[in-house]
Amino acid sequence: MERLFLLCSCLLVTTVTSQHSVCSRPNLQGNIEMAGIQRFFNPGVELALSCKQGYTPVLGPRKIVCTINGEWTNTKLKCIPKQCPHPELITNGELYYEDTVFQSTINYTCHEGYIMTGPSSAVCQANGTWSTPAPECIPVSCGLAPVPLYGMVIYDKAIRGTTTNYGVTATYICNPPYALFGNPFAECTASGSWTETPECRVVTCPPPENIDRGYMSANDKREFFYRETVKYDCESPYVLEGNLETVCQKSGRWSEKPSCKAPCAVAIRKAKILYKGKKIWIKDLEPNRVLHLEIISVFCMNKAMGCGYEVSTQCIDGVLKIPECFEGIFSFCYKKAFQKLNRTKTKVKEGGFMVID
Ligand SMILES: *[C@@H]1O[C@H](CO)[C@@H](O)[C@H](O)[C@H]1NC(C)=O
Ligand SMILES: *[C@@H]1O[C@H](CO)[C@@H](O)[C@H](O)[C@H]1NC(C)=O
Ligand SMILES: *[C@@H]1O[C@H](CO)[C@@H](O)[C@H](O)[C@H]1NC(C)=O
Repeated sequence: MERLFLLCSCLLVTTVTSQHSVCSRPNLQGNIEMAGIQRFFNPGVELALSCKQGYTPVLGPRKIVCTINGEWTNTKLKCIPKQCPHPELITNGELYYEDTVFQSTINYTCHEGYIMTGPSSAVCQANGTWSTPAPECIPVSCGLAPVPLYGMVIYDKAIRGTTTNYGVTATYICNPPYALFGNPFAECTASGSWTETPECRVVTCPPPENIDRGYMSANDKREFFYRETVKYDCESPYVLEGNLETVCQKSGRWSEKPSCKAPCAVAIRKAKILYKGKKIWIKDLEPNRVLHLEIISVFCMNKAMGCGYEVSTQCIDGVLKIPECFEGIFSFCYKKAFQKLNRTKTKVKEGGFMVID
């Protein structure tokens, strides 16, 4: 039907051109358009121009006229693309666009752990509106954290209902005496599932054993549970070294036990010693012993200077070394203190031992 019409109009034109100039259909650009499909126009014909969909006319005029010499009058009509409103930022997501004119596209994405509700892109339509409102990014939800048998879970945020959002963390605690195995912290991940749940297991330690020369707070020969403790002490004059108590550990073994250390005899005769800040004759040390880690000082002679000085020694688990310089009894000695402005010269009595306070 259309082809036939075109054919007819051509025939008509060929007959007409021989007598008059006609205007051929204008070559329109810049998104300007006109109605109809007519190809030739007689002089005097007015054509109404318009903008394509999505474009707005500015300047003018919007009409052109076919002149007698077969040309169209000029037009300054411009068609500019429709403008869509500037999109607003979305929470927990991003948007990407280059322009906001007709046919521009906005792409939306959500941050990790958020799901998009609605289309992920919008197009600026011919009437200057976006094809779809901005989508929402809602947090992924995980459901409640699995609770281990004999344990409990504590969330870092208040939980409403039976869902937890992405990023919520949980801390696990096992009811005593159960021990926790695995990671005590779990998290609602971006994939909507919880990280691994730890286990609560019974842990027992064998009945505690006593230490040499000591005694313990528990005498019952039962198994002990995780975190139960036993205290130790030593028979006098033994001294306890190490932790006062052992604890039943997750491994089912006791933590390191303390030990009892022996006192030392002071194997010198007829001398003064400095013990617990006091100068005493060795015969007055009753009984003759010092305890583990206690320090005494004995008196040595500096022959060149002609004076005495103190040398200390410590009792280590039954062993007290007497310094080699120890000379026993001094009949008479002066001791000099070489402190700058405090030079003192003190007479020390027989077997004596002097301290500068
Ligand atoms: C939007 O996404 C499409 C398809 O992935 C892509 O071709 C286009 O370049 C994107 N546009 C922008 C502004 O990021
Ligand atoms: C704009 O155009 C779209 C698609 O043609 C239509 O759905 C929408 O209702 C129009 N909006 C307005 C404000 O005219
Ligand atoms: C000298 O010794 C005395 C007491 O022993 C002290 O009070 C004083 O400050 C000392 N003087 C100096 C200069 O060290």
